Amino acid sequence: MSDIIINGGRRLSGEISIQGAKNSVLPVLAATLLCGGESVIHNCPGLSDVATSVKILKHLGCRCEKENNTITVDAGEVSGCDIPDKLMREMRSSVVFLGAVIGRTGRAVISSPGGCELGPRPIDLHLSALERMGVTIREEHGYLNCTAENGLRGAEIHLGFPSVGATENIILAAATAEGDTVIHNAAKEPEISDLADFLNRAGARIYGSGSDTINIYGVEHLGGTEHTIIPDRIAAATYMACAAVTGGRITLENMMPSHMVSILWSFKECGCGVVSCGKSVTVTSPERLRRIPTVRSLVYPGFPTDAGPIAVAMLSVADGTSVFVENIFENRFRYVDELKRFGAKIKTEGKTAVIEGVNRLSGAECKATDLRGGAALVIAALCAEGESRIGEIHHIERGYDDIVKTLKGVGADINYSRE
Ligand code: EPZ
Repeated sequence: MSDIIINGGRRLSGEISIQGAKNSVLPVLAATLLCGGESVIHNCPGLSDVATSVKILKHLGCRCEKENNTITVDAGEVSGCDIPDKLMREMRSSVVFLGAVIGRTGRAVISSPGGCELGPRPIDLHLSALERMGVTIREEHGYLNCTAENGLRGAEIHLGFPSVGATENIILAAATAEGDTVIHNAAKEPEISDLADFLNRAGARIYGSGSDTINIYGVEHLGGTEHTIIPDRIAAATYMACAAVTGGRITLENMMPSHMVSILWSFKECGCGVVSCGKSVTVTSPERLRRIPTVRSLVYPGFPTDAGPIAVAMLSVADGTSVFVENIFENRFRYVDELKRFGAKIKTEGKTAVIEGVNRLSGAECKATDLRGGAALVIAALCAEGESRIGEIHHIERGYDDIVKTLKGVGADINYSRE
């Protein structure tokens, strides 16, 4: 496995076209299982998680073709209902296939998704909702054996937490269920609306996505359709931070600024120039970034947990002390010890990180601990003095479409090392 080598201190400037959203393309690919015809999905990012999703679809009997950033899925002959353990482990978010497989076949056998780098990843909200919709779930030897003996039926569901994945699984199970489903306290992330848009184009009847109450009226059949995945707001935040910490100026194209109001606001708060114009945003770094007294991760439209590591890396070179509070995941600071190798002064206690900004970071050898933690190390390396080497980059490749080529394109001295 190669590493990423970065020689820091280069001012980044130029244009970056933002990739399709990882957290949208995965549930949309799962949703193609419900469609009797051919689904054509545009703006799919080139990610390992996308490749794994295609492997799962093929394993279940779908015909899949990929041409550049377009993936075509023909789910006319779905035959399987099990997702092999190896594939479940490759991609933690494969649990989002659960609702679609049951919706299509009436059955699903998946291995219990393990925890991940962010701590335990329970799926109790997913399972209790599916049980209310008529699914019997037996846990045997680490596998979940799910059966809807009498088919899926609509239900009224209240989520104790607005879980993104649980909301998606309920939508996928309810789209072709018998009767109507209401989700109260649903997740409101843009990726939920993108999934609903895709399904409605295929003939589903889903109303209220993007709000905390979603109504789904089950339909008999979904046909094929064509869809373009929304831009990845977290990838956009990442590249904005790369500009912000290097004294640079970058214009991001193919964006949806309305999906990232809280993120854009935080860049303005630390002194960046942020100018939105239609689907593009230009970010200009100040001489020195200002601290942000407190940033808290919240469910949408609050500051997204996935942008937390990006903000912490950026604030590690700001003027003053900032505080970041992680309210969504239990253990999302594993990357901080790696950031400290660059000379960052960060103290974590429970869900709080106190970041004392320093003038300069220095190049370091480090290892990515998770997807967004890995992105934080790239940001630190870009502004550090000297050479940095980042290992375990498979974490980063799960969510960023060729980050090396993208950053090289705006002037970064960044390469893969092959040894
Ligand atoms: C999705 O994960 C995203 N992943 C995550 O992005 C993102 O951080 C998260 O939503 C929050 O926005 C994908 O979309 C593939 P949740 P998900 O269910 O669905 C608890 C990235 O880096 N919970 O909203 O797993 C859970 O433990 C990834 O791109 C339960 O307790 O997130 C967590 O504390 C990381 N029981 C909180 O809810 C459940 O049944 C949020 O989880 C489900 C979740």
